[in-house]
Amino acid sequence: MCGIIGYSGHRPAVPLLIEGLHRLEYRGYDSSGVAFMQAGKLHVVRAAGRLSALEAKLAAEPSMFSTCGIGHTRWATHGAPEERNAHPHLARGGTLALVHNGIIENFQELRDELTASGCTFRSDTDTEVLACLIEEERKRASSLLEAFARALRRARGAYAVAMISPEEPETVYAARLSAPLLIGVGAGECFVASDIPAFLAYTRDVVFLEDGEIARVGRRKGREGGTDEARAWELFRLDSLAPIHREVTRIEWDMQAACKDGYKHFMLKEIMEQPRVIAECIAGRVPADPGRDEAEGVSLPELDGLAVPRRLRIVACGTSFNAGLWGARLLERFGGVPVAVEIASEFRYRDPLLEEGEAVLAISQSGETADTLAALRLAREKGCVTLGLCNVVGSSVAREADAVLYTQAGPEISVASTKAMCSQMAVLLLLALYWGRRRGRKGEAGLLAHLRALPALLDGELPSMRETAARIARACAGARSFFYLGRGPAYPLALEGALKLKELSYIHAEGYAAGEMKHGPIALVDPEFPTFVVALRDEFFPKIVSNIEQVQARQGRVIVLTQADGRNGCGKLHAEEIWTLPACRPELASFLALPALQLFSYEVADYLGKDVDQPRNLAKSVTVE
Ligand code: M6R
Repeated sequence: MCGIIGYSGHRPAVPLLIEGLHRLEYRGYDSSGVAFMQAGKLHVVRAAGRLSALEAKLAAEPSMFSTCGIGHTRWATHGAPEERNAHPHLARGGTLALVHNGIIENFQELRDELTASGCTFRSDTDTEVLACLIEEERKRASSLLEAFARALRRARGAYAVAMISPEEPETVYAARLSAPLLIGVGAGECFVASDIPAFLAYTRDVVFLEDGEIARVGRRKGREGGTDEARAWELFRLDSLAPIHREVTRIEWDMQAACKDGYKHFMLKEIMEQPRVIAECIAGRVPADPGRDEAEGVSLPELDGLAVPRRLRIVACGTSFNAGLWGARLLERFGGVPVAVEIASEFRYRDPLLEEGEAVLAISQSGETADTLAALRLAREKGCVTLGLCNVVGSSVAREADAVLYTQAGPEISVASTKAMCSQMAVLLLLALYWGRRRGRKGEAGLLAHLRALPALLDGELPSMRETAARIARACAGARSFFYLGRGPAYPLALEGALKLKELSYIHAEGYAAGEMKHGPIALVDPEFPTFVVALRDEFFPKIVSNIEQVQARQGRVIVLTQADGRNGCGKLHAEEIWTLPACRPELASFLALPALQLFSYEVADYLGKDVDQPRNLAKSVTVE
């Protein structure tokens, strides 16, 4: 969703704001803008479309001496993606500029009230309403800080906001409620941003804002006590304006992790990183010495203080939902815990019955997905133990869950989630083994040895996988629709394969449990409608061979993603294309099939010339409902 960057320091602000916005492009946007202080005056420049349009406009604007400003990439919610709706928005009297991510739900009510008191609006946005409300509150408040807080207390919904004003020309105000925002603390300079990559080139020291908090960053004239550097950032409670003490967190990853590293796209880089992701995910959780497997098993100290749940409800969206569906089978089989998996946006609105002893696990790469967060909060309200499985350290899901397991996949920049799913699957497998052991179940010893060998196996396979993916992609890129079929663990993979293909290449694709085909979807099969079948060498293999034959009997083109013959192999495969992955333990085969599916979608989209890292209409972190 929208990206926010703010800066106050000693460098020219506008180039930093633009650089930050480029680093936030992955979040998805349709217009952009910056506001900056120059010679005590507030300047706002905005443009519809890509950032290059904004940069072209800025070239004609003197901004060299500005050292304080805010910037924004907008993903339209209220009003069309036009320049007049782009952020920053000026309050009517020009006393402040505001950028905003999220939705102010009572904006119409506030707009009516402001209109009645003589305010007129130039945009259709809820953000302009909030800007005018702050200006209105300033008439009654004793300070800008108080006016900012008074207005925000009246706003319902979700927001991350940043504001500058000529009244305090070197200060950026920011606040958050259910939308991500953090502070980057440099030497004599501070940033506020929606995500770390926006300022990572300048500092790795971060302060996480919590819901209901206000940040004030930068220098202010007449500040009492302390040097500017020492007090370059302050936090206050929104409700009382009481100061808050917060530690600075040092981020482990660096710019290298947030760069393409020679790859054409972030997505390709992130697919290729999966061997390392698995290795880092299991490091410290699986004994390094195989001789200790039997005695120690998997360790997840984050969960040691919590009882093994009687039942587990997984809530998630998109790719994270598919990972949850995949993990459910293993959690039941190895962990002995009955599991239900639900789409978070459905769960949150249906007053679910949750049993005593049932835990809720929210899976979210970003940890900021609005529906997943709301589902987690609902589970808390209902008295459940809540667990988070997140990639982003310090994210909302991570902070609000009773316990969090981090996937440790490093930053995922491409909108299409790839390595995050791989890491979620790895942690779910570990969780299943961990709970199983705590319940007195055994059986993981051999599996752990294979898991340790998995990164090397995958690493050796990825280059040829990419070649095969590219070849098949070229042969199939003309198709208008695709089926993806799988059974057992391959069913969630089929869902994920279809999701990846449609979001990247805009080709219609549907994932099905292969056994469901004959209940309706098979009616669509014809020679123009290819079917991509994930046929892993597990106990479902003979069944899926029958499903393949059913499609072929209707003249359907079939591409089969399978493995070299293993112990369960039976039935002979015939298909237009048979893509063979190496044999491995059935529980781990999905870790080979997943990147193959991702690479296929990547190659189709790239071949068709699509914007791989920022597909149309999509946002990386979906912080609105
Ligand atoms: O950050 P989350 O894992 O909560 O995000 C959930 C979905 O929005 C996300 O997985 C989405 O489906 C991806 N674009 C898929 O590639």
